[in-house]
Amino acid sequence: MTKKEDMMDNELFDYLCSIRRTVHQWPEPAFEEHKTAEVISNALEKLSLWHKSGIAKTGVIGRLDSGIKGAPVVALRADMDALPISENTGLPFSSKNHGFMHACGHDGHIAILIGAAALLKETYPEGDVVFIFQPAEEGGGGARHMIEAGVLDGVNMIFGCHIDRHLQVGQIGVKKGIETSFTDAFEIKVLGKGGHAARPHEAVDAVVIASLLVVLLQTIVSRSTDPLNPTVITIGSIHSGSAYNVIADEATLRGTIRSIDDRNRRQVFHKIKKTAASLASLNDAEIHVDINEGYPPVVNPYSGYNLARHTAEKIVGHNNVLTLTHPSMGGEDFAYYLEKVPGCFVRLGGAKKGLENVASHSSRFDFDEEAIRIGATFLAELTRDAIIKLKKRG
Ligand code: NI
Repeated sequence: MTKKEDMMDNELFDYLCSIRRTVHQWPEPAFEEHKTAEVISNALEKLSLWHKSGIAKTGVIGRLDSGIKGAPVVALRADMDALPISENTGLPFSSKNHGFMHACGHDGHIAILIGAAALLKETYPEGDVVFIFQPAEEGGGGARHMIEAGVLDGVNMIFGCHIDRHLQVGQIGVKKGIETSFTDAFEIKVLGKGGHAARPHEAVDAVVIASLLVVLLQTIVSRSTDPLNPTVITIGSIHSGSAYNVIADEATLRGTIRSIDDRNRRQVFHKIKKTAASLASLNDAEIHVDINEGYPPVVNPYSGYNLARHTAEKIVGHNNVLTLTHPSMGGEDFAYYLEKVPGCFVRLGGAKKGLENVASHSSRFDFDEEAIRIGATFLAELTRDAIIKLKKRG
């Protein structure tokens, strides 16, 4: 593994950590990343890089031009949005925007991309680099909006990374092919008939029907899908009832379906609707199913994977590059970029000592800031390698 100081001097590293902490302190939700955009613009300005904000509402792009006509163009992407979580880390730079928190490491991704820009500026590669700071990764599909705004125009390859607390700092995880899952959301409304708690025969109990649904939907995964084809159905929220002695007339269930195969996913949609319809008829109730299709999977093509793997080995050493064999059932809208241009989305080790069991999207989430140094060094080197490769290809 390359020595810390050879990757990046401590002065730059400290500066990047300060950016991360400022962004962390002012977390903003999807499409409202105004302060965050300002921090990014200021940092790009300080690097004397061309930049533009207000793209797809709150997105920012920066550009490092080689001045060479027809030179290859490589894009790097970071996401900017925070989550609606009240922070409970006790960090001195904890959220000051009550009810919101950077609990997924996007604050780190921003610092990493600014770091990569600073490193690339020092060496000026023989190609152009576009730095994409994207709003709304956590559900708003910011990537799609950035693409519609033209950020991929002329881009030959794109790379991005996500800090991953499952990997140690210094480890980089790469995955060929499918890396993340489809992320579909659903809402099911059960309409029964309210009544007195003592006289169930005069009512249609929405709570009981909702409970049966919870169990039946789980059996779709265990009994109706191929076990070799990963599928998850999670019901994250149920709302029903108002009093202990009243039979509820309505129940609303909300959840998500995760799968990596489109055909399997369509079958799950169908089965959910069929289950709901049968249960409704069995119980004289009405059940409405509304499925909201989400992000497609991130699929890393071989060309991008191969480059990322090669660079990772140079930066962290062969033994610290992990070949991921299974996709994550999480979602990531980086998928949209890879639908347009080749590249790779990489997992960057960020486990923090003492927080081994703290999940991302948890109010206690934090990562080891050394990941910023490694991430920035890696993405800068990957950009150089990609430019060399693209030049050779002509
Ligand atoms: Ni994330």
